[in-house]
Amino acid sequence: MLTMPTSEDQPTEQAGPQLAIERGKPWVSAHHNTAQDGALVILTTTGGKRYLISLHRGQTFHTNLGHFRHDDLIGQPLGTTVHSQLGHPLLLLEPSLSDLITRVKRNTQIIYPKDAAYLVHRLSLRSGDQVIEAGTGSGGLTIALAWAVAPAGRVYTYEVRSDNYQLARTNLERVGLLGNVSMHQQSVAEGFRQQGADAVFLDVRTPGRYLQQVREALRPGGFFAALVPTVNQVIDLLAALERGSFADIAIEELLLRKYKVVPDRLRPDDAMVGHTGFLVSARPVIDPTDPGRWLSEDRKRYTARKEFEAKIEAEEARRLAEKGEQDGPYRMPLP
Ligand SMILES: C[S@@+](CC[C@H](N)C(=O)[O-])C[C@H]1O[C@@H](n2cnc3c(N)ncnc32)[C@H](O)[C@@H]1O
Repeated sequence: MLTMPTSEDQPTEQAGPQLAIERGKPWVSAHHNTAQDGALVILTTTGGKRYLISLHRGQTFHTNLGHFRHDDLIGQPLGTTVHSQLGHPLLLLEPSLSDLITRVKRNTQIIYPKDAAYLVHRLSLRSGDQVIEAGTGSGGLTIALAWAVAPAGRVYTYEVRSDNYQLARTNLERVGLLGNVSMHQQSVAEGFRQQGADAVFLDVRTPGRYLQQVREALRPGGFFAALVPTVNQVIDLLAALERGSFADIAIEELLLRKYKVVPDRLRPDDAMVGHTGFLVSARPVIDPTDPGRWLSEDRKRYTARKEFEAKIEAEEARRLAEKGEQDGPYRMPLP
């Protein structure tokens, strides 16, 4: 069970944003067959452009293909072709989770849907879970996490920069998921204000520095993951995980290849996203006596080989020293 500090424990500057959170009905619970007033929809052009818009009676949506009165869209079945006043067609659709993640306004690099989807799997999230995330950034991943744990669960997200905090808040409100998120404008370095979380995810430059905070926030058996873009960061994080008694460590990278949708000439797209980030996941060992035994087989074999090599070198050095004592001091042969 997740516990929160009492209100007296909470710094006053945190109270503002916390109290301001709208406890609205989560958008994810509202599947409809027709476009609803107040709901988000996608309008796609025949050229593949996608517009994410929020429908409100009395408003008009303008594109270079003409405009659409929201009143004419509200009540239309999703999947219908609608026409601008100039006669241009657009397809009216329910937004997918990917639409929501990729169409948020962004200040930061957001997590790609392929990584977000796998993260939900790696963190083993389900409806009702309590998950902690830092940094919030533009809120791209927060949307995916809230989507996964809604309607009963909650995301507690931490962001140190006020501009990113505000932007993420606006993005979450727009997609109707703010009701499932508690936002904290605070650095991870100060620790998390929850304990007993089912999962903690870090998307910050140096996640290895905050493993003690992660450990204190996670319930026993909880899930930890981080996303870092460079190999150097993975190496630093690995060292910190080993020092911090984490087990079941995995390092993964996902490559997604899209195909040209031409049935008679089916082939991959010419270009693809080459690299997004490395996903590192691990589980804290609760009784860290000899945590080394839970390292990977590859890691243990490598350590054993290094220890063996060191012994051989020490033996060689000892023999050379002995020989030196018998033959006199060793002289480098002249070339
Ligand atoms: C790459 S962005 C996160 C993007 C986010 N996952 C998304 O999908 O939109 C990293 C964010 O972490 C924030 N950050 C960096 N260090 C932090 C810290 N110690 N505590 C909280 N947030 C931090 C940064 O300000 C930035 O907004």
